[in-house]
Amino acid sequence: MPRFRYDENLFYEDSPTFWPGPDDVEAFHRTLPGFAPTPLRSLPALARELGVAELWVKDEATRLGLAAFKVLGASYAIHRHRLHHGTGPTTFASATDGNHGRAVAWSARRLGQKAVIYVPRGTVPARIDAIRAEGAQVIVVEGTYDDAVRRSAKEAAENGWTVVSDTSWAGYKEIPQWIMEGYTTLFREVTRQLAGAEPTHVVLQAGVGAFAGAGGLFYAREGRRPVLVCVEPIEADGLRASVAAPGGIRRLPAGSQRSIMAGLNCGMPSLLAWPVIRGSFRGFLAIDDEYARAAMRRLAAEGIVSGESGAAGVAGLLAFAGEPELAAARAKLGLDAGARVLAVSTEGATDPAGWRAIVGTEPPVAG
Ligand SMILES: Cc1ncc(COP(=O)(O)O)c(C=O)c1O
Repeated sequence: MPRFRYDENLFYEDSPTFWPGPDDVEAFHRTLPGFAPTPLRSLPALARELGVAELWVKDEATRLGLAAFKVLGASYAIHRHRLHHGTGPTTFASATDGNHGRAVAWSARRLGQKAVIYVPRGTVPARIDAIRAEGAQVIVVEGTYDDAVRRSAKEAAENGWTVVSDTSWAGYKEIPQWIMEGYTTLFREVTRQLAGAEPTHVVLQAGVGAFAGAGGLFYAREGRRPVLVCVEPIEADGLRASVAAPGGIRRLPAGSQRSIMAGLNCGMPSLLAWPVIRGSFRGFLAIDDEYARAAMRRLAAEGIVSGESGAAGVAGLLAFAGEPELAAARAKLGLDAGARVLAVSTEGATDPAGWRAIVGTEPPVAG
């Protein structure tokens, strides 16, 4: 297996597809008890090492005490669902690699509702325990993330439960759209925190692509055009495979879907997110797990606790800086001494044992 794969996006559009969004997303999030914007850090030493002018990292480790940005989507989608479909007793079902399921369970519990969460085989115990700690029933599916998605949809239909999936498919788009809307709060916070400064490049990691798609949506709506770059594990690079496919049609990744970047270990890209991403991202980089480990250590040295999936954006930047074969792609993207780059550390130490084994010290804040 090579250490990376890169594809330029030949389907990039100057005016990408997007839908007009509601204005109430951030106002809703502010009603959540304990809600606070997460920090944005400037890392000049790491920027120098990467050969760029500026590196900002948005640090999601403290988001509502859930250690990942995902609750921005799940909480908002459940809120909108209740506005449209009523507030009667509901069981919310979801498939997850960990963070989204924990966020669904948290959101259900705070409304006094139930959650049933499906995780793929191999999900680490700490991530399962975190979901159970929110009062949800957890079902381990013998298969991949996509198998867990199928099973959650089937059993939800049989039982009359409501699926809260961050991925979407034919006939199932309403909730995934609200989830993507929910994620835009993160980018609104960044814009405010930058106080007039503008990133020239935004590097976003992707699993099914709802998060990256939310970034594409946000910047398109704002009429801004930073160069957007997508990073995935080489073992689960469905977006890169899709942009490389004839016609840019959604494709499954070729890899084993066994990356340590568990949140990105997905198969088929989201039906809803894919057109937004295909229209708005310039480059698609898939990287080996070793880059995620290196980025976790490098971010830890800067005082940022970043999990395997959380560190993936910075991991992509390390690959761009370190791989001579990526020099041409890097130059074409303009990732050079004039670049001011935004990356998002999308999670903290969601697997504390894994973090300890990779970084070599205890994670300072558990969960
Ligand atoms: C920490 C983390 N980062 C990034 C992602 C990617 O989000 P998406 O699946 O919407 O591409 C996930 C998804 O679970 C995640 O848990």
